[in-house]
Amino acid sequence: MKKFNHVIVRRPCRALTEGITSGLFPGKPNYELALKQHDAYIEALKECGVDVTVLPADERYPDSCFVEDPALLTRACAIITNPGAPSRNGEKDEIIDAVRKFYPEEKIRYIQAPGTLEGGDVMMVGDHFYVGRSARTNEEGIRQLTEILAEFGMTCSEVHLEEVLHLKTGVNYLENNIMLVSGEFVDKPEFMKYHRVQIPEEEAYAANCIWVNDTVIVPEGYPAVLAAVKDLGYRTIVVDTSEYRKLDGGLSCLSLRF
Ligand code: GLY
Repeated sequence: MKKFNHVIVRRPCRALTEGITSGLFPGKPNYELALKQHDAYIEALKECGVDVTVLPADERYPDSCFVEDPALLTRACAIITNPGAPSRNGEKDEIIDAVRKFYPEEKIRYIQAPGTLEGGDVMMVGDHFYVGRSARTNEEGIRQLTEILAEFGMTCSEVHLEEVLHLKTGVNYLENNIMLVSGEFVDKPEFMKYHRVQIPEEEAYAANCIWVNDTVIVPEGYPAVLAAVKDLGYRTIVVDTSEYRKLDGGLSCLSLRF
């Protein structure tokens, strides 16, 4: 099934080494290696049949390659978010021009302060959107998101997070009613109706796989998750994200798919 035609990514900047990190995966990113991994990521996306818009690196924002956070792009509208991390908040102003190339102004909405929202907290399941209430996404941001989605005939429900950075750090939808779940999401009542594939604790990072037009891109180094995704019948592509992982970033964080 072809669902996505377009992807937006942003090249990592040299300041990537100063990006926000929980320290869960120690070490500073190696910029040169991060660039090579980004090249491979773009190639993997192209193999999934999408065109890829590559935005230039922005040295003002160390985390700006995690382009999923400043926008949410849906079938019916685009939402420019209001990132809750102060050092990332300005990224929202830098994504607008790229979004305008694909969405007319009447279909673009904006999350306004005091609402905060980051795209990594939003998981699309058809026309329903699960949104994580996190350190980055607050109650008012979720209220505004719900109102905007309703205006375009879509729905939204909140998921409370306690352990992870973003909702999609720990749970990702692979279409066909299938979800990869790890940690605090394994027993969430709202996900019981899906076919849940439980990720072993030692491979929790790889809960962040992405489905792109019936191919699933899986991070390198997680054999149990790779085997589980293959068993589901998906074509897989493995991409090394080691340098982004040091900043708690994963495959979904690195692109907007729409
Ligand atoms: N380092 C990615 C983030 O914290 O948003």
